[in-house]
Amino acid sequence: MNATLNEIGREQREAAFHDLIATVRPRLTAASKLAEREVLAPKTTMRVGGPARVYAEPATVDDLRHLLLEANRRGLPVLLLGRGSNLIIPDAGVDGLVLSLAHESWQKFEPKPDGRIWAGAGLRLKNLCGLATKAGFKGFEFLEGIPGNVGGALRMNAGAMGGWMFDVVEEVHLMSFAGEVRVMPKAEMHVDYRHCAELQAGIALGAHLKPAATAGAEDIRRQIDVYQKKRVESQPREPSAGCIFKNPPGTSAGRLIDELGLKGERVGDAEVSTVHANFIVNRGHATSADIIGLVRQIRARVKSARGIDLEPEVLLYGQEWRDVL
Ligand code: EPU
Repeated sequence: MNATLNEIGREQREAAFHDLIATVRPRLTAASKLAEREVLAPKTTMRVGGPARVYAEPATVDDLRHLLLEANRRGLPVLLLGRGSNLIIPDAGVDGLVLSLAHESWQKFEPKPDGRIWAGAGLRLKNLCGLATKAGFKGFEFLEGIPGNVGGALRMNAGAMGGWMFDVVEEVHLMSFAGEVRVMPKAEMHVDYRHCAELQAGIALGAHLKPAATAGAEDIRRQIDVYQKKRVESQPREPSAGCIFKNPPGTSAGRLIDELGLKGERVGDAEVSTVHANFIVNRGHATSADIIGLVRQIRARVKSARGIDLEPEVLLYGQEWRDVL
């Protein structure tokens, strides 16, 4: 009985995807990309996972809105893909519409006469940092080595070296899942460690950023070099999704896992990095199942030895960690 019901559900969903494609394709501008069963693993830093049932790179705000509304109308899940640096794509892929702001129209870096900088959601943090350095704007140095883009960094309030994204934000332009564009000053947003409430139910389009000061490019570059050196010495080079767990209050997840002797622990080709214990690295052919298995093992060991529940920092794309742990 259940199998039959599932089968009917699947058929209806397939029909909804076909209908979505047939409706949106003729209405998108030529610069927008729309594809079926797009492989997502190469778009992520961990390099695992299956395809997106439908994948789109809208080139304009109107195209983005159109895709969103048409998916909503059919009850199809919509997921945002940033730089793919902080997520694990399930092996089975994602049965929804995956949207990426990878088109160049979202990658703008525009200094304004009032001293602010407009940074599009698709702009890579590395490029933001490089362009700010060239223009003599200080305050973005900590972002340089984070392998994300502006949209993802806003959503996650990404951080490193004692700073986090919202330190440099003045206001965020976002689109609600109902397609409305809003401008939100930082003071009205609910931001915390690796969290921004407003961007769980909305899509960041870009932000006005505020440099801390102006300085010579040489000075700024020197600070970046210090951070780069620290990162190269303390973080692995192999494919990973960055830190896998949030730091529990008052301590570092990496130190905890290291103290329990878990560096080098493996499930399949997923390995606890021997460089930094809060990274799981892909040693070649890891699957999502390998990574999830290793996450489970680490959590169990930390719980039994220290009584601490480690909470994943990376997203399990299209799913909830609590459903698989
Ligand atoms: N440590 C160990 N063993 C390890 C790893 C770390 O003993 O295997 C010790 C270090 O020696 C240090 C302490 O733990 O004394 C903290 O380590 P680290 O400076 O690397 O900082 P972290 O708390 O582990 C955080 C962020 C990183 C960010 C770094 C650098 C989180 C979960 N992690 O790591 O962010 O790059 O600080 O600022 O907040 C990420 O978010 O994906 C990420 C990698």
